[in-house]
Amino acid sequence: KTILSIQGAAKALPSRRVSNHDLMQHLDTTDEWIVSRTGIKNRYVVTDETTASLSVDVAKQLIETHNLLPETLDFIIVATMTPDFATPSVAALVQRDIKAVNAMVLDVSAACSGFVSALSVAEKYLVSRTYKKGLVIGADCMSKLIDWQDRSTAVLFGDGAAGVLVEATDTKSSYDYIESLKGVGEMADSLIGGEQVNTSLYAMNKHTLTPYLTMNGRDIFDFVSRTVSKAIKELPSDELSSFEYVVAHQANLRLLSTLSKNTGISSDKFLTNIEHYGNTSAASIPILLADKIEDGTLKLGSNQKVLLAGFGGGLSFGLMSVQL
Ligand code: ACO
Repeated sequence: KTILSIQGAAKALPSRRVSNHDLMQHLDTTDEWIVSRTGIKNRYVVTDETTASLSVDVAKQLIETHNLLPETLDFIIVATMTPDFATPSVAALVQRDIKAVNAMVLDVSAACSGFVSALSVAEKYLVSRTYKKGLVIGADCMSKLIDWQDRSTAVLFGDGAAGVLVEATDTKSSYDYIESLKGVGEMADSLIGGEQVNTSLYAMNKHTLTPYLTMNGRDIFDFVSRTVSKAIKELPSDELSSFEYVVAHQANLRLLSTLSKNTGISSDKFLTNIEHYGNTSAASIPILLADKIEDGTLKLGSNQKVLLAGFGGGLSFGLMSVQL
């Protein structure tokens, strides 16, 4: 049986680290409020880096570590809601800079569910043998979307990118791939931002634009604690019990403990690193994968089963299993 296999992971962060104490210089907030509500202590924020430059950094690390010839990559998929341009895609910019001349390139826009959506697309290419090898990257610079005067959102997010090298691999193990991805568009307004000005000669903008990210925190909390928890509990029960770890979107620690409580999955199976990075949107799951592979908690080639769980803007969620 052919499955998606993760060969390696890498991450790239902006050079500027911003602590809660740094934010207290600009915003009416406290370290205590941020830590107790979210678990976040630090985040990284771009200065001269871009969504594409961080993604290129990730791609170069994967190429170097795995001694890859860039022309052997069949695809580059980047999950992002903060691309540098409407066109070219971030994936195309990565392709240009690493000279992956044979790759198909594609960006996936599914906010904080984006990395799981992108990996699910890659899984279809690999299992159907359309393509054999590629990069899947999650990258976001949420700092571009945030109203830095709005303490209710400015403290939550961070910038970053991370990704994985994936290949089609044949396995004799009994592993059954499972996935569950869904949009809940009727909650679209619960997390909204980045509206683009229509500068057309014929445009009639009769409403106030929403360039900054606005969020109804309560709606999102309810969406995760009800809808996402229910979707996890509906996964086949023998599969659910076989997961050694859950690598979930790092939005905030209280959300993760609510997910644990509502699904009955023990809280020590939920890996976390949010205190260092904040909510990095599409980058949060691959940054967590990269960190936990680096510290040895996750072991590539060990057949560990892991549940990836993304959720966020759309609203949307994506659950998928990976065998390491
Ligand atoms: N510092 C200090 N006080 C603050 C701050 C801040 N940074 N932000 C808000 N407050 C104040 C509010 O003004 C409010 O004051 P008031 O009671 O005087 O009006 C008070 O704190 C409580 O505000 P709430 O918004 O009710 O805070 P809550 O306890 O609900 O926590 C939070 C907010 C953490 C966002 C919560 O709603 C939550 O966890 N939501 C989940 C959504 C989430 O994590 N979103 C991330 C992005 S989406 C995603 O990635 C899926």
